[in-house]
Amino acid sequence: LGIGALDKLDSGSILSKDVRDINGRLLLTKGKAVDREQIRLLRMWGVAEVDVQGSIESAAAPLDEENPKRKAIEGALVRMLQYVDTEHPAIVTIIKSAIEYRFQHNLMLGFEDPKRLSPDFRFDLHRAVQTQIRFSEIQLPESPQIVTQFNEVAANPRSSGNDLAEVVNTSPSLAAVLLKIANSAIFGFPSRIDTVSRAVALLGTREVGSLIMGISVMRLFNNIPKDLVDMSTFMRHSLACGLLSRIMAARLNRPNTEQMFVAGLLHDLGRLVWYRYFPDQARLCLELARKTGLSLYEIETECSGINHEQIAAQLLDKWKLSETLTDCIVYHHHPSRCPDPTGPGIVQVADLAVNALGLGHSGEHAVPHFDARVWNRLNLSPNALRIAMGQTIEQMDIMGTPHWGLTE
Ligand SMILES: [Fe+2]
Ligand SMILES: [Fe+2]
Repeated sequence: LGIGALDKLDSGSILSKDVRDINGRLLLTKGKAVDREQIRLLRMWGVAEVDVQGSIESAAAPLDEENPKRKAIEGALVRMLQYVDTEHPAIVTIIKSAIEYRFQHNLMLGFEDPKRLSPDFRFDLHRAVQTQIRFSEIQLPESPQIVTQFNEVAANPRSSGNDLAEVVNTSPSLAAVLLKIANSAIFGFPSRIDTVSRAVALLGTREVGSLIMGISVMRLFNNIPKDLVDMSTFMRHSLACGLLSRIMAARLNRPNTEQMFVAGLLHDLGRLVWYRYFPDQARLCLELARKTGLSLYEIETECSGINHEQIAAQLLDKWKLSETLTDCIVYHHHPSRCPDPTGPGIVQVADLAVNALGLGHSGEHAVPHFDARVWNRLNLSPNALRIAMGQTIEQMDIMGTPHWGLTE
């Protein structure tokens, strides 16, 4: 008997155990040979491995690991992960997948040679941006109105799916993004979600409420200077992190998978506050990160005395969002500081993987931390992570670039 990763499985392999999805639903019975189409469907249902008779050999041709382009990507990735244990099985998996994805899509990455920077460069910049951020001086945005309206209608036991839909449909651009994201939640199912009320019926009021909150919060930050951060790239990073967090959460059988999507979507929220309210300081820090390849997280902490986790904590405290969601965002670089590290641990790995793959960009060039102890608690195999990364890429391709209504 052998356990076969789906992508190494040949059609004709005989299943030695029943295959069930994460909810225990029977998908295929043992003793049957699987065909190509079934393998594709199993992948869509989130199945990573199946038990088969006999052992499975990889049919893939050996990679040319000495290819100079591949080598260059690998070198840059190792640099991006300079703060992380690159020998750890999860990180090895992330690097391998990222090399192949970047190789195929020509997503090169690189930094200026730090040796070419003047020795005073780092020092000068540090001095220039050394200003403490004082939150008392800024007016943090209010939580989005549509979220309050939705929650009010949802709290009324007499409200129907149509009443909820009516609230959302007052903003067609919000509804459009919501439907895209709702469809990605039922990825691989034959049905499609084409109305808000159907999203409520299929995903539930609370899950849809979470999604509306996440989307609306991102839309609040519509006036970030373009020369500072390309918002569509930032949104891509956020979206990919949301998708991967959701897929990992589903795989780990966690409840509230949409909340995990929102946690991933909003994980770098603190950066948006920083970009919007302290653009000059952020610009200098971003430049320093770009030129040196040092962690922006470390730079922002050193230069302004506060990092994007702490900034998010201030904002989320003001908005009184759910504690679980807040924890995932506020501890995404330090999950072990959280009483329940699982949620932030998922977001940490998702962020790391998305950075490595180069799906969008948050301004960060060197992911600051990876917590191996929290990873062990997650109990996710590196192979399952690899497949989750592949599913994220697939979902990103299908979704394209959603129009977030940022310019409304
Ligand atoms: Fe972050
Ligand atoms: Fe991030």
